[in-house]
Amino acid sequence: MLNAKVDAKKGSLVTELPAWEALKEHVADIEKTHLRDLLHDEARCMALIKESEGIYCDFTRQRVTQRTLELLYELADQADLRGKINAMFNGEHINSTEDRAVLHIATRAHRNQKIMVDGRDVVPDVWEVLDKIKAFTDKVRNGEWLGVTGKPLKSVVAIGIGGSFLGPLFVHTALRTEPNAMRESRDRTLRFLANVDPIDVARALDGLDPEETLVVVISKTFTTAETMLNARTVRSWLIERLGRLLSVLTDASLPALPPAGQEAVAKHMVAVSTNLKLVKEFGIDPENAFGFWDWVGGRYSVCSAVGILPLALQYGFDIMQEFLAGANNMDEHFKNQSYQDNLPVLIGLLSIWNVSFLGFGAKAILPYCQALSKLAPHIQQVDMESNGKGVDINGARLPFQTGEIDFGEPGTNGQHSFYQLIHQGRVIPCEFIGIVRSQQSVYLKGEVVSNHDELMCNFFAQADALAYGKTPEQLRSDNVPDYLIPHRVFTGNRPSMSIMLPSCSAYTVGQLLAMYEHRIAVQGFIWNINSFDQWGVELGKVLASKVRTVMNSARTRDRKVLPQDGFNYSTTRMINKYLEGKTQ
Ligand code: F6P
Repeated sequence: MLNAKVDAKKGSLVTELPAWEALKEHVADIEKTHLRDLLHDEARCMALIKESEGIYCDFTRQRVTQRTLELLYELADQADLRGKINAMFNGEHINSTEDRAVLHIATRAHRNQKIMVDGRDVVPDVWEVLDKIKAFTDKVRNGEWLGVTGKPLKSVVAIGIGGSFLGPLFVHTALRTEPNAMRESRDRTLRFLANVDPIDVARALDGLDPEETLVVVISKTFTTAETMLNARTVRSWLIERLGRLLSVLTDASLPALPPAGQEAVAKHMVAVSTNLKLVKEFGIDPENAFGFWDWVGGRYSVCSAVGILPLALQYGFDIMQEFLAGANNMDEHFKNQSYQDNLPVLIGLLSIWNVSFLGFGAKAILPYCQALSKLAPHIQQVDMESNGKGVDINGARLPFQTGEIDFGEPGTNGQHSFYQLIHQGRVIPCEFIGIVRSQQSVYLKGEVVSNHDELMCNFFAQADALAYGKTPEQLRSDNVPDYLIPHRVFTGNRPSMSIMLPSCSAYTVGQLLAMYEHRIAVQGFIWNINSFDQWGVELGKVLASKVRTVMNSARTRDRKVLPQDGFNYSTTRMINKYLEGKTQ
């Protein structure tokens, strides 16, 4: 019965699958267990430790038995997980609401791979852009490409938001202290400008010499309001400062840039976009634009020019090729491994179990590695924008909640922040990520353990603290006074997984990124939702644009928004309060 094939593509909700029903019933069996006992079942533990592609994953502290896993594999079969993974790799238009293929895996394909989209092998297109990035970044880095006043361009400001920002920031943060990357980036600066807040502009430009600065405008659509305003602001900054230097009176308004302005933009501004027409209209020569394709979703675009261009400017192309190779390694693993040994599939299925059956709607991403401090913000965006949906792929309203609330901080900082809640408050499945060989070593004379050992001691300890907890009996035998016992009891039985990477290198960062991307896809495939559109962000954009229009026209009539402008009482009053304040 449980193995009955059910077509999850058309019509049926995942909740109607026999394995879903069986998993619901199985929850009662798991409720009777405690991780304290499960961790002493050696056969179970052996089955739940997976080592693949150099990555060590320990799932023994998940609230599962081998039976749970069998049922999850059955669910995967019945939900046609394999078919959906294949459809993604085969370039089918699985992003059905936008009629697009989902092929970020092609952005890290080896040159000799073949990946078809609508009858066309796109790997040569990907490599044409990568070759162009290599040629350009080599020229900038070796001083062949100079600024308009003849100086080498040592600083880069990458302007972009959402997927055009968080992925590159994650990778940049991960590599900053990696020895090879450090050597390659000596004397170079990479900054990001994402928020439309003028404070972010001021911070991004603070102390930079425009003569030595290259600006990369990153936007898939080249229409995102924040990015385009920031791009215009920074263009004015460049033109004004460089124009002054070139003794030419400049005017930043387009299309008629004065010659010095055009020259400054030509030498100091490049773009990454799928919309080369708008890049040109903005004033950037399409020759200095690096394209990508509609089959790369914004939040999955870090391996396209979105990430590779700014990161290769900072670290050199070779290091970014290692990063791409790591991601490609995980793609192949995901495509080819059986469910039982497939890391993204296993992690995705365990999340389904935690969210949809045990009712744990959040997860904490806790890298015990400062270099991975931007992993949680990046995954927060990829996951929550992908799987925060209310209907299935056919448009049927879902009778359950999809997606997870993601948050996280590097250990041990998080321990002194929100771990109290995780240990004694809500149950939040934790993902601990540790590194065997640190990027940096500090060994204080006379200390027994190094800084890195100390960090990893906490990594090992936290998972067991969550799993075992502390009983009243243990507290009593520790002579804890009775009145304190309720306060000091830890119920334990709190799930976590521990992931260990051999090092934090460009290669392993690529693997980690792809592992997380694919686990998100696995969850979406099982829930039978479209993880690759993002209609939910549209409404806010439309309303902001309405406010912008009204605010602009309010300037001409005593800075007042009127009731007939179409806002409710609350919004009208708030906007007017703001406008009044501005005049003071
Ligand atoms: O937040 C919505 C979104 O469309 C993201 O998916 C995307 O990464 C971001 O905005 C930026 O879009 P663009 O790269 O087109 O500027």
